[in-house]
Amino acid sequence: MVNIDEWTITKAVLDAQRGCTDPRLKTLLDSLVTHLHDFAREVRLSESEWRAGIQFLTEVGRFTDSKRQEFILLSDTLGLSTLVTAQNNCKPEGFTESTVFGPFFVKDAPWYDNGEDIANGAHGEPCFVNGTVKDNEGEPISDAHIAVWQSDKDGFYDVQRPELSRLQARGNLRSLVDGRFYFKSIVAAPNPIPNDGPVGRMLSAAGRHPWRPAHLHFMITAPGYEPLITHIFRDKGPYLDSDAVFGVRSSLIADWERHDAGSALANGTPSSIPYYTLRYDFKLFRARPLARAQTP
Ligand code: BEZ
Repeated sequence: MVNIDEWTITKAVLDAQRGCTDPRLKTLLDSLVTHLHDFAREVRLSESEWRAGIQFLTEVGRFTDSKRQEFILLSDTLGLSTLVTAQNNCKPEGFTESTVFGPFFVKDAPWYDNGEDIANGAHGEPCFVNGTVKDNEGEPISDAHIAVWQSDKDGFYDVQRPELSRLQARGNLRSLVDGRFYFKSIVAAPNPIPNDGPVGRMLSAAGRHPWRPAHLHFMITAPGYEPLITHIFRDKGPYLDSDAVFGVRSSLIADWERHDAGSALANGTPSSIPYYTLRYDFKLFRARPLARAQTP
């Protein structure tokens, strides 16, 4: 095809990729090209805007490495992560809702027994977290793998503090026979998403702030159940209505209950300092059975 213009270019590209043999990839590529071209036509993209866009994506790539996930941040701040999470995790009411994964999960975090302190030296007011993991019928799920991670009192995750020589305020636990889990940690604070790079500049240019409401991340997996990636948000805190990554669901907001100094701890002894308690009961969805192969 020659003499391609702004109106015939879309068909030309779609024709060029007609030979794609992976049907799903073809659907994705065809739709991407169609929407991208429609976008450029709709806004009448100028050449300097196109160059600025390429430069921006190049910088996002330059900022991305194993510790800094600038592309995930871009997806999160554009709302794409929340959209994809929402459309892939529709569950009947009553099941724990999912939300964005974020860039701060670490695979090899320490394992803890129930009751242990996962803060591991991170600074913040003490918080005792407890809850249950249950299934569709309210039956406890024992031995579920519970991964937790959070920021410290200054809103920083351990991986954002290069001076640290150990992982803090994150860990792995297993639910008990009755589905219960409990651990000690610290109260998480609102945190800005990393905003010293191209995504931060994009937010300022768009008149947006980089803040997230205080939250605790959970990833819970158990054989036979859909994995759950979610947060529990601290109620009444700032940014619940304007999370920079659009991740807040009202069912995930919980009461971080404050107890004055002198209040009894779970073992009955009075605490010399104020502390918080948080309870949350998770309900996992049984894995959808795989579609049965068609028999002739
Ligand atoms: C966070 O959980 O703090 C986070 C999530 C998405 C992007 C940036 C930060």
